[in-house]
Amino acid sequence: MSSATAIAHPNIALVKYWGKRDAALNLPAVGSISITLDTLATTTSVQFDSDLDRDTLSLDGQSSETSLGRVSACLDLLRARAGVDTRAAVSTSNNFPTGAGLASSASGFAALVTAADAALSLDLPPQTRSILARQGSGSAARSIFGGYVEMHLGKASDGSDCFAEPLLDAPDWPMTVTVAVVSKTSKKVGSTEGMELTRHTSPYYDAWVAGQSADLDEARSAIEARDFDKLAEISEHSCLKMHALAAAARPGLVYLQGPTLEAMHRVRALRASGCGVFFTIDAGPQLKAISLPEHRGQVTSALADIDGVVEILQSGLGEGARVV
Ligand code: PMV
Repeated sequence: MSSATAIAHPNIALVKYWGKRDAALNLPAVGSISITLDTLATTTSVQFDSDLDRDTLSLDGQSSETSLGRVSACLDLLRARAGVDTRAAVSTSNNFPTGAGLASSASGFAALVTAADAALSLDLPPQTRSILARQGSGSAARSIFGGYVEMHLGKASDGSDCFAEPLLDAPDWPMTVTVAVVSKTSKKVGSTEGMELTRHTSPYYDAWVAGQSADLDEARSAIEARDFDKLAEISEHSCLKMHALAAAARPGLVYLQGPTLEAMHRVRALRASGCGVFFTIDAGPQLKAISLPEHRGQVTSALADIDGVVEILQSGLGEGARVV
């Protein structure tokens, strides 16, 4: 028997990933840029045990058959590298709501790959773990690293150059992320299904793919220059563009809810009054307000006060996936 436990944090994309160029290998159609959080965390233990005849998965204390297929497929990639066939018992828990647009699949697959790598004594470099995590969930490739992270689009058809890399460490430009939780239920249309529907039916899809590299350049240079206003502008643009693109699919995907829209207006009003804050929203109704740490109090009170915001979560920027 061999086992290991790893911790990983969700990440929030500032320049969004939406769309796959190869669904089987889970290759993105666009690169992306994200920030890794600190207080929200997934802790995953993997125990390889020759007595097991199949993999098992416990998610937040309950046996989970729905996610087991994806977890087993990810473990198969690591087993193949180690040249073993041993099955594993996986136990994973999130200290935040699962599957509701809070990137639990990102931290989940980053923690899974990191724990399985250690349990099998593979000692794979972070770049390789990023490639393996990507095959579980595209955004998971980014949670291998901390701080500001860029996911490369890559050119190779086998995905060997499609991995994330750190741009800037968390302490080099601290930020606060305030999450306005609007709903704790799992999303109805998952990201894979939503991306494929968008790719095949949204009339804006080609324009989205064509515009991504300029958005990435702008965000990368804003991060390098620590230019908050520039990062705010490009991040809100990328978020709104992704939601417009998905809304134009058939049937249209509308992830935003009433309180999400109210929160977007409040964030913009705060920024107009001189507060360093901008919003981003993923495939769910929660709004993530990114702010300079000194403006965190103002942001929290503006969002907590919205009807329909059921909880406020707060985080700074944190480290990449690691064994504990
Ligand atoms: O990694 P996935 O398949 O869960 O997709 C993530 C999609 C978004 O969260 C909406 C955007 C992103 O870049 O994280």
